[in-house]
Amino acid sequence: MSGNSKDAAIEAPNEQPPLVKGDVKLRYMPYGAEKESTYLPAIRQLISKDLSEPYSIYVYRYFLYQWGELCFMALDEQDNLIGVIVCKLEPHRGGPMRGYIAMLATRSEYRGRGIATKLVRMAIERMIDMDADEIALETEVDNTPSLKIYENLGFLRTKRLHRYYLNGNTAFRLILYLKPGIPYKPTYPPDYPPMSPSEQGRGLMDEDLFARQAAQMRMEEVRGEKHDVTGGSASSSNTR
Ligand SMILES: CC(C)(COP(=O)(O)OP(=O)(O)OC[C@H]1O[C@@H](n2cnc3c(N)ncnc32)[C@H](O)[C@@H]1OP(=O)(O)O)[C@@H](O)C(=O)NCCC(=O)NCCS
Repeated sequence: MSGNSKDAAIEAPNEQPPLVKGDVKLRYMPYGAEKESTYLPAIRQLISKDLSEPYSIYVYRYFLYQWGELCFMALDEQDNLIGVIVCKLEPHRGGPMRGYIAMLATRSEYRGRGIATKLVRMAIERMIDMDADEIALETEVDNTPSLKIYENLGFLRTKRLHRYYLNGNTAFRLILYLKPGIPYKPTYPPDYPPMSPSEQGRGLMDEDLFARQAAQMRMEEVRGEKHDVTGGSASSSNTR
């Protein structure tokens, strides 16, 4: 994307017409470190209400100080926080530039109106502008709304993480591949260890290898969706 579109990705939330649903008007904006005193308590409250992991203030600061531009908020007309997404972007084990969606929440009475989907789209768009290779996250295997949002946007289930959360629940890792060949980019330590000679001889296929092959097979499809992330569906999300 051009430099202009990069700037636009940050400024667009303030310029877009507000989402209208019934009598609710929302505006979407990036967090920005200077807004800590205003919004951080609300972000903590909204996220801690529903997520199973008890995050300390340091976890929020870790993400928001370094990647404030990858946190987006949905606010109502009185500046109440209705939805939020918190992310980061950095090289993954010396390999791909990996975006990571750490937290996502919408206030319960506002759910099902496309708010979280719009926040995810905004984060994806910003990460694409920042040259992300892939975007990853974990979500509980029975979190249907969350799985729907991400899979609608082209994320693939790449791993099942048994008893991943402190509450004992199992998670899926989902990844959106943004460029060709990314599942094969080497990492250290490797995400996908090479097959041992004995395994190769027996033609074994473990879960990781299967996931990688499936991801590679769907690469063209995912790449095709890259420009739809904000393009084709952005206008419809404004009207939900
Ligand atoms: C997950 C969450 C962020 C979704 O927020 P939202 O603003 O309601 O999300 P959206 O409206 O954009 O989309 C929700 C999708 O789930 C679907 N959905 C919602 N509830 C559902 C249910 N009970 N069963 C099946 N699908 C459901 C919606 O239809 C929609 O899919 P669609 O676009 O294909 O119609 C919200 O439920 C939440 O804050 N949950 C608690 C925190 C959480 O679980 N965060 C995610 C952890 S990674």
